[in-house]
Amino acid sequence: MSQPGVPPVQFRVIDLIRKKRDGLALTAAEIGYLVAGCTDGSIPDYQMAAWLMAVVLRGMTREETAALTHAMLNSGEVLDLSLLPARKVDKHSTGGVGDKTSLVLAPLVAAGGLFVPMISGRGLGHTGGTLDKLESIPGFRVGLPVPEFERVLSVCGCCMIGQTEKIAPADRRLYALRDVTGTVESPYLICASIMSKKLAEGTDALVLDVKTGSGAFMKKEEDAVFLAELMVETGERMGKQMVALITDMNQPLGHMVGNALEVQECIEVLHGSGPEDLRELCLDLAAWMFFLGGASKTVSQGKQRAEEIIASGKAFERFRQMVELQGGDIRVIDDPARLPSTGHTVDVPSPQAGYVTGILCEQVGTACVILGGGRERKEDSVDPAVGIVVHKKIGGKVAAGEPLCTIHCHSDAQATRAKTLLQDSYQIAAAPPAHKKSIIHRAIYKGEH
Ligand code: URA
Repeated sequence: MSQPGVPPVQFRVIDLIRKKRDGLALTAAEIGYLVAGCTDGSIPDYQMAAWLMAVVLRGMTREETAALTHAMLNSGEVLDLSLLPARKVDKHSTGGVGDKTSLVLAPLVAAGGLFVPMISGRGLGHTGGTLDKLESIPGFRVGLPVPEFERVLSVCGCCMIGQTEKIAPADRRLYALRDVTGTVESPYLICASIMSKKLAEGTDALVLDVKTGSGAFMKKEEDAVFLAELMVETGERMGKQMVALITDMNQPLGHMVGNALEVQECIEVLHGSGPEDLRELCLDLAAWMFFLGGASKTVSQGKQRAEEIIASGKAFERFRQMVELQGGDIRVIDDPARLPSTGHTVDVPSPQAGYVTGILCEQVGTACVILGGGRERKEDSVDPAVGIVVHKKIGGKVAAGEPLCTIHCHSDAQATRAKTLLQDSYQIAAAPPAHKKSIIHRAIYKGEH
């Protein structure tokens, strides 16, 4: 126990790695030491990565998860937004392929009178990241300092930034390391990563979109429920209103996968069109945000409100305003054809006629990373223009030779590996699949809605 004026207990990092490797629980002080050393850079990446891998393989107790979340939250500032004149509400996804709802939700919910202080992440593993998508808009700044974040938030009701040196800096470092070391798939690390950012941003309520299926980090629904309950419990303990929706990620959401392509699809949804599954999920998540934020009496009234705001054009206008305030080029928002594009495409033809009965969705995400839409090393920069347009989804009928999807790339040679991955990810059979599951499997919420 450290006394005032007495230096904190020192540990040997190698002992903490070995302790976790051997399946033992670390104390809060030990976890705090690792997080502090990661944040100030005194613990090298290779030691942090070894410890992260040990956590993935050995897991954590509830106490360790709480200690990790607490230490990561307190690695930076915890914003106090209590002076804002309405409730603050946010949403966060555990990560998926073509999972782009944040870009629709922040302006939509802000246009409905609530504040959305959103701290998001970059691409993680095979999944895309909100910040990389936003940065495909020329000039858009995701690294605003806190006073500017607060200013944009107070002017337009929403602001979307990343972890900074001031807010959730431990997650900033750990997130980038997990992305490239195969250490994402741990419910404990995901819980601490998400909740440390979300608790730091000063929101009152949080809607969690917990993905399950072949394109999610939690492939099995029971694992997604475990993660959802862990995060809901963590948020509630900190006095936040919480709900978690368990949603389907067995195929890409919408049709576009890739940074600029996904921005284009979000603009379609903000204009009242766009693919049905994406639009429906946005409306359902917005419904819960309105409900938890006290802007609607029930979730179904919240959904109606969301539909009206999109139809009125106010959600699109709010997005445009946010982009402008964050330095982005609004000519691109008015004319998405100006978004970065490769100017070259390669079709992925179906090897046979039939119906799509399944998609190995993680492979679709990996194909996008391989094209340059994500990172394989920390220092990689992402290519905003590359990506995949998914034409055929589960249940779709396809003729032999008809494109299943189209790769946006810079040359045929660049598309070779992605094309094979995509072709292999499709399962096609003579008969259609038995039934189509709905996007939302269930809501984890204690109370009437
Ligand atoms: N989103 C995050 O912010 N962190 C994770 O670990 C996974 C998804």
